[in-house]
Amino acid sequence: MQTLRDLPALRAAINALRSDGKPLALVPTMGALHDGHMALVEEARRLAKHVVVSIFVNPRQFGPNEDLDAYPRREASDAHLLQEADVDILWAPGVDVMYPAGFSTNVALTGVTGGLDGAARPGHFDGVATVVAKLFNQVRPDVALFGEKDYQQLAVIRQMVADLDMPIEIVGLPTQRAEDGLALSSRNAYLTEEERKQALALPRALGEAKRQMEKGATVESALAKAIAMLASHGFDPIDYVTLCDAVTLEPMTVLDRPARLLGAAKMGRTRLIDNIAVDPE
Ligand code: PAJ
Repeated sequence: MQTLRDLPALRAAINALRSDGKPLALVPTMGALHDGHMALVEEARRLAKHVVVSIFVNPRQFGPNEDLDAYPRREASDAHLLQEADVDILWAPGVDVMYPAGFSTNVALTGVTGGLDGAARPGHFDGVATVVAKLFNQVRPDVALFGEKDYQQLAVIRQMVADLDMPIEIVGLPTQRAEDGLALSSRNAYLTEEERKQALALPRALGEAKRQMEKGATVESALAKAIAMLASHGFDPIDYVTLCDAVTLEPMTVLDRPARLLGAAKMGRTRLIDNIAVDPE
């Protein structure tokens, strides 16, 4: 595996890889890799002859009071994992390479970014779309893989690729969970032992609300119970627990088509998100 940090080196290495005409896959990450990331890398290995993983903690997607400085950085152990997974290139640019002085472009979407994390974290998806557009132009993948753990992010990327005619296949993979059900996340490292136990209420509250809605309970009552359960386990604030159209992410009040139940709330200083599919009969 080559670890590259500047664009001329990346371009040369990508040109060399692509010269056999075989597919190239990209897995964009912010590092502190766990089994959720590695599931994307393994699927990339299955789908494409060449695999590039990027690690870049993207300042533009963090709000002013968010955890940019505290975000875990473990590049040496990440590189070891990626090497073991037979990755061809680790693309790890610095902030100056990604955003040189004078950088002036912003990729902003409407619609799909309107609610949920788009509302709770102003500017977040501009930062995500801008950096992912850049990564796509830098690496020129045939296929790029993203996790359903960040369900709205996946929808944003799909919309951007469709709107801008980017010739890239977007593959979404199911959320990888710890044995007890908590979604794996680099941010779980912030949780104390006690908070880690309480955090389990998030997947449990979503799972219980899903069961109730699928049994015919009203969306309103199922969501209210989920919110009460999160509050009783110490989640504060609760940014949202919302049932949305699985594709457009428009809020739904009646379960009449394939839906996604999404939640975001803070446990201590750690903001956690999770989501599950909810299907009408
Ligand atoms: P990061 O949080 O590092 O996640 C990188 C990829 O791993 C994303 O596609 C995310 O959805 C996926 N992922 C994270 N936890 C997962 C889990 N438990 N199961 C399955 N997939 C999981 O998401 C980002 O970075 C950034 O926003 C990025 C897209 C790299 C742009 O900066």
